[in-house]
Amino acid sequence: MAWYDFFANFYDRSLDGLYRDARAAALQALAPAPGQRVLDLPTGTGPSTEGLARAVGPTGRVIGVDLSRGMLRRATARATRLRDDPALAPIELLHGDVHALTPELTGGPVDALHVFLGMSTFPRPDDAFERLWATLRPGGRCVVVDVFAAKLGFQGRMVNLVARADIRRRSWELLERVATDFTRTDLPSRRQHGGTLFLAVGVKPG
Ligand SMILES: C[S@@+](CC[C@H](N)C(=O)[O-])C[C@H]1O[C@@H](n2cnc3c(N)ncnc32)[C@H](O)[C@@H]1O
Repeated sequence: MAWYDFFANFYDRSLDGLYRDARAAALQALAPAPGQRVLDLPTGTGPSTEGLARAVGPTGRVIGVDLSRGMLRRATARATRLRDDPALAPIELLHGDVHALTPELTGGPVDALHVFLGMSTFPRPDDAFERLWATLRPGGRCVVVDVFAAKLGFQGRMVNLVARADIRRRSWELLERVATDFTRTDLPSRRQHGGTLFLAVGVKPG
């Protein structure tokens, strides 16, 4: 994860504005309830953790997992800043590879799964999604936000290079195959996204 360890130094400055609205849309679509446990994977520098922690409140929990220690250091600094806010859930950050994820790592099944700009970057998306899905309890909700480009333009190639991603993946299809109440929505996209931002949401059958 050497690249993301380095990218962590300017990740938030470069991308905060570009994904702010999509992050809010993901939170709204996931709609975690007070007291729930949410898995945010990959959590990166933790840009989604505050919103998730506010939604589930002090009796809930946000578990953020990422493979890059550099990204996690930023997420930890953010969680430390938020620690004294009594309206927020505790934010637990774990170093881990999605390809080694087990429900034990998250302390048992989670109520909600937040996968933001992960499916295009994981080396083996099918395996990654299977493992993520296995951590979700039946009846739990999953949101996937990512970028898709059927054909790569210059900007799409740049995004792939900078994010070590493959935005040609039709990542929502993995969720669509297994979820009930599945919906996919295209979000307002800018040239800098390199393709179309999409939001997919579904529920694990009970
Ligand atoms: C584009 S960033 C997205 C981070 C965050 N979700 C966000 O919304 O900004 C992709 C993240 O995926 C992480 N990542 C890549 N491969 C991973 C893996 N195999 N397991 C866990 N995290 C991984 C990277 O370290 C990086 O933090």
